[in-house]
Amino acid sequence: MSLNASAPAKIILFGEHAVVHGHPAIAVPVSTLRATATAQPGGDGLVIEAVDLGERLSIPPDSDKSDHPLVMVVHKILQTLDVPPPAATITLRSTIPIAGGLGSGAAVSTCLARTLMQLTGKSLTLSALNALIFEIETIFAGTPSGIDNTVIVYEQPVYFVRGKPPKTITIGQPFKLVVADTGIAAPTHIPVGDVRTLRAADPQRIEPILQAIGDLVRRARVAVESGDVAALGPLMTQNHAYLRELTVSSLLLDQLVDAALAAGALGAKLSGAGRGGNMIALVRPEGAYAVESALSSAGAVHVFHTTVR
Ligand code: PMV
Repeated sequence: MSLNASAPAKIILFGEHAVVHGHPAIAVPVSTLRATATAQPGGDGLVIEAVDLGERLSIPPDSDKSDHPLVMVVHKILQTLDVPPPAATITLRSTIPIAGGLGSGAAVSTCLARTLMQLTGKSLTLSALNALIFEIETIFAGTPSGIDNTVIVYEQPVYFVRGKPPKTITIGQPFKLVVADTGIAAPTHIPVGDVRTLRAADPQRIEPILQAIGDLVRRARVAVESGDVAALGPLMTQNHAYLRELTVSSLLLDQLVDAALAAGALGAKLSGAGRGGNMIALVRPEGAYAVESALSSAGAVHVFHTTVR
C-alpha cells in the first residue's frame, strides 16, 4: 500500500519584505503547482528519491551525519515527531520552480512532514505543523516572517502579520493572474538582509516606505475581500514601485512589469524576495494571452496563468 501527500506553491500578492519588519502581507496558495510525495513502506531504512534533483538519499539514523538540506529537513521532522527513521521509500516530486519566490522549500518540507506523519502514525495539529515548517525555514532562510509556511500549510489565502495568529481571508470575486519567471534563482536571505541593512543605515527614508507598503496592504485586503478587482491593479503597481525603492527589483523584473502593463495588465509587481524569481500581473480574463505573449517577448523563461479564488 502506498501513501500520498502534497503541498501547494504560494504567491505573495502584496507586502513582501515589509512583512519581515512587522507590516501585513497577503498571500495565496497556488493549488495547481505542488510538491508531492508517494511513500512505499518497507525495505532496509528510510530512502528519499528526489526525482527533480536526480538524487536518491539514504537517511542515516544519526542526524549529524549529513549536511544535505533534504536530509536535514527529514531529521528535523523526525526529531519533532520523536520517532526514528521509518523503513520506507519516499518518492518526492515538485512542479514548483526552486528559488523562484513561489515557496518551493516550504512546500517540499510540508509534504515530507505529512508523509512522515502517515508513515509513523504520529500527527501534528495544523498549527504545530506550521510551527515546524517555520523552524525549518529559519535553517535555510535566516529570519523569515513566516508567511510562506503559513499559506502553504493552511492552503488558504492569508492576511499575515508576523508573530500574530494568521487570518484567512475570503476572495470576494475571483481574479486572474499571469505569473512570469525571470529564470534567475533568487535566494531569499540576500535581498532580505540587504533591506535590513538599508533600514539600519537610513531609517528616515526606509521606514516610511515600509509603512506605506503596510497601508497599501490594508487597502488591498478590503479590495480583495469586497471583490473590487479594479482597485487591486494600481495597488500592485504601486507596491512594485516601493519594492524598487527597497532595491529588491531588477532590470528584468522591471522590464516584465512594464511589458505586462503595456499589454493591458491592470497591475503588476514582483512577487517574493525579488532580484529574480517571479513577477505577477493582474489581468482581465480576455486579456491574459496578450499579457502572456508580451511577457515571453520581454524575456520571461516560463509563464503560467492562475485564478485566485
Ligand atoms: O521566499 P520568498 O522568495 O517567497 O520571499 C518571502 C517573502 C519575504 O517577505 C521577502 C521574506 C519573508 O520571510 O517574508
